[in-house]
Amino acid sequence: MNTKQLDSTYIANTYARFALNLVRGKGSLVWDENGKEYIDLSTGIAVNTFGIADEMWAAAVTEQLGTLQHMSNLYYTNPCAKLAQMLCDKTGMKKVFFSNSGAEANECAIKVARKYAADKKGKDHYHIITLENSFHGRTITTLAATGQAVFHEDFTPLTEGFLYAKANDFTAVKALTEQHKCAAIMMEVVQGEGGVMPLDKDFVSAVAALCAEQDILLITDEVQVGNGRSGMLYGYMNYGITPDIVTTAKGLAGGLPLGATMLGDKVQDTLTPGSHGSTFGGNPVCCAGALNILSRLDEATLAGVRERSAYIFDALNGAPGVVRVSGLGLMIGIKTEKDAADVIGRCMEQGVLVIKAKDKVRLLPALNIPMETLKKAIAVLKSACAE
Ligand SMILES: Cc1ncc(COP(=O)(O)O)c(C=O)c1O
Repeated sequence: MNTKQLDSTYIANTYARFALNLVRGKGSLVWDENGKEYIDLSTGIAVNTFGIADEMWAAAVTEQLGTLQHMSNLYYTNPCAKLAQMLCDKTGMKKVFFSNSGAEANECAIKVARKYAADKKGKDHYHIITLENSFHGRTITTLAATGQAVFHEDFTPLTEGFLYAKANDFTAVKALTEQHKCAAIMMEVVQGEGGVMPLDKDFVSAVAALCAEQDILLITDEVQVGNGRSGMLYGYMNYGITPDIVTTAKGLAGGLPLGATMLGDKVQDTLTPGSHGSTFGGNPVCCAGALNILSRLDEATLAGVRERSAYIFDALNGAPGVVRVSGLGLMIGIKTEKDAADVIGRCMEQGVLVIKAKDKVRLLPALNIPMETLKKAIAVLKSACAE
């Protein structure tokens, strides 16, 4: 059997895969089994921060792989301790819990919020407000946090206590905090799976002020927008707010599974021994990868993200067949006149990989994609929209 046959015979049927078997890559280029080359503007859905098989990242990961790959959280290991320090130094957060994915990072945030509120205000303060059109993961609890009914079907009953407000509707958020005893408000400052929609600055500031005033925790889900993708190290930094909890995963370790839940002042001591844990969380190899990525997310890299972003917005805004361009940094959604799937298919034929978010074409290129490569890919995308 070939790969496709093996996959459809033995792998659970949860993914509508593109008819493409990818075998190797380098930077922002990737090749299929027939040797056809593609420019990758998807980075494994915002994971391969500096592209595929980046040399510095691979060297850091390989060195750790040959030194100590895992020993469990029963013992101290240096890469996760150093990574936690680097995350705290760069964000001002106080402590970090490591896990393996975005959903787990959010699960931890939800547990911390519920425990903080229970300790401080009582066990009935368990409600968590999230936004309509949000996406927070696929475990039963993070599905409950996800404000899209389509993901809930077939899996009820979900974890109780989640309330949904319309994005950018501060009155709706405030009303929920008055009607229910709330532990936290959780949001993506740029809704990724919801169609690459940045939240309004006024709304985010008003929610942050409300949270501070009511001692309701503010959680920003930075699983997709975090780690430099927004043009700032974390998405919330574009909004001038200080969340109580920041969750991230995806691009943090540049292609290895690692989730992080960063805990601010108020909640730094909420978790206690035995209250949470993970076998693989903080794995030395993943943390070595993340140390390499995070140490390179400096001002020059972030300026490069903003420059590439401006180029894409300028090139696509008003282009034939393009209705609207939304997003922040290198997380961009394009509403096209043609069906998004059609544009994505045409791009693939022409050797460019882009993906979908709701009814939009979504771009998530590597933060260091060479400008010439980006220009070539955008030219292909523009002609796919216009044809
Ligand atoms: C904002 C956001 N939160 C959480 C998740 C879930 O992350 P994971 O698939 O690593 O569990 C995603 C995944 O797309 C996401 O975009």
